[in-house]
Amino acid sequence: MSRLGHLFEGPHRSCAVVGVQWGDEGKGKIADILADSADVVARWQGGPNAGHTVCFDGGEYVTHHLPVGVFHAETTNVIGCGCVVDLEALVEEIESLGPAKQGSIVIDPNATVITPWHRLIDAGHDEDEEGEDIVGTTNRGIGPTYASRASRVALRVGDLMRDDAGLMLERLFDWCVSRARADDMTLDPDAFVPPSDVLRHLRGALDELKDHDVRIEPGAPILEASLRTDVADRVLFEGAQGTMLGLRAGNYPYVTSSTPTAAGIAAGCNISPGRVDRTIGVMKAYTTRVGGSDEAFLCGRAMDDYVAEQIRDIGGEYGATTGRPRKVGWLDGPALRYAARVNGFDGVVVTKVDVLAELGRQTDVEHVDFLDDYRSNDAGEEPICTFEPTLDAEALTPGSTRSSPIWTEEVRTMRRRDRAPEPLRAFLDFVAEQMETDVAAVSVGPDREAIAT
Ligand code: IMP
Ligand code: MG
Repeated sequence: MSRLGHLFEGPHRSCAVVGVQWGDEGKGKIADILADSADVVARWQGGPNAGHTVCFDGGEYVTHHLPVGVFHAETTNVIGCGCVVDLEALVEEIESLGPAKQGSIVIDPNATVITPWHRLIDAGHDEDEEGEDIVGTTNRGIGPTYASRASRVALRVGDLMRDDAGLMLERLFDWCVSRARADDMTLDPDAFVPPSDVLRHLRGALDELKDHDVRIEPGAPILEASLRTDVADRVLFEGAQGTMLGLRAGNYPYVTSSTPTAAGIAAGCNISPGRVDRTIGVMKAYTTRVGGSDEAFLCGRAMDDYVAEQIRDIGGEYGATTGRPRKVGWLDGPALRYAARVNGFDGVVVTKVDVLAELGRQTDVEHVDFLDDYRSNDAGEEPICTFEPTLDAEALTPGSTRSSPIWTEEVRTMRRRDRAPEPLRAFLDFVAEQMETDVAAVSVGPDREAIAT
């Protein structure tokens, strides 16, 4: 059993990994360690916008659609009905993993198909009147695909086998074209390929997936069988993105189009919420985000540009999917307290504490800051200590900060938390206190082994 195997505790032996911040917290690595003890790993939302990086045996692997259980033999990996799937990209993703792919893969036929048209309108839509990027999406077609599902014109993976799949795709094509027209996009016929071609490509991709032993099968019965209280199988739910990117939970409109919080698991796997025993939040020791407005990223405004640049370099803070530089900030107290509340964490894993150690060694930065509250511009108003989705973050300013001494000791070889240098221990205690939960583990480097419990 892996170092985190004890987290599968409860009547169903299930555990969920949820992003606490704006994604890129290191969920891939933590989910990978947990997957070593799991029999089934399921994704419940998102699609190829995700980028989960896992490092082992000297290699670095990135998954986008696939649960990280694929790196573990005898693990069943479910792409749940709440996910959106780019079938052609998924073929490439599987092939890119080579022999590192060990576990079996199941796609729920009720998951939604991303088409090339969705990708086009995603890329064409994301601008305001001045041509400024608004949300800064990953351009993988995620938002338009979920929108078409909500409009009941999308195809589900299982629909591709239907006799009337061509007709369904024509309706979807019309919907995508009208969206493109509304955004004043030029309808390049080379790009807006006709429905018959798209159907051929999608069915071709489905055949290739079957050649790679991918099964198209409802995920819920597989999960239900493993979650029975008289069965000893362990189930891991692997979240993508993070709480603050949630369609409803996050700082709308700078969000993704799915529900990455614990509340989304049941809907995105089509199971009862009661089947999820424990929810573990994964959070980075500082904050990053890609896309969205600079003004709304209050913890970034609380950090010196020089410090942000150093952390970006040391921590390699560039998107795993898009390569874009991430905005960097200190921990965001109001966002952390909020994430703890909406997810009801049973513990958190704090990642990348080694990056701050390196910051302490390489620069003259002596303190780690913590943004304690937000302030409205009206003097006399109370400080805002908890994030709220309807807050107009752009109209707020970062409020007071708290500082604690940075740590400079080499922590990458640390395997026990009680061996942590004193300033790091104080920092972790402070995080636990703010989030009213335990720190379950600390990630001290990119590799699988680099975890302190
Ligand atoms: P979308 O998910 O491509 O629609 O992008 C919506 C917003 O979520 C953008 O600000 C993206 O940068 C962000 N986002 C989406 N997926 C991820 C992720 O896996 N990590 C970090 N940010 C993400
Ligand atoms: Mg990522």
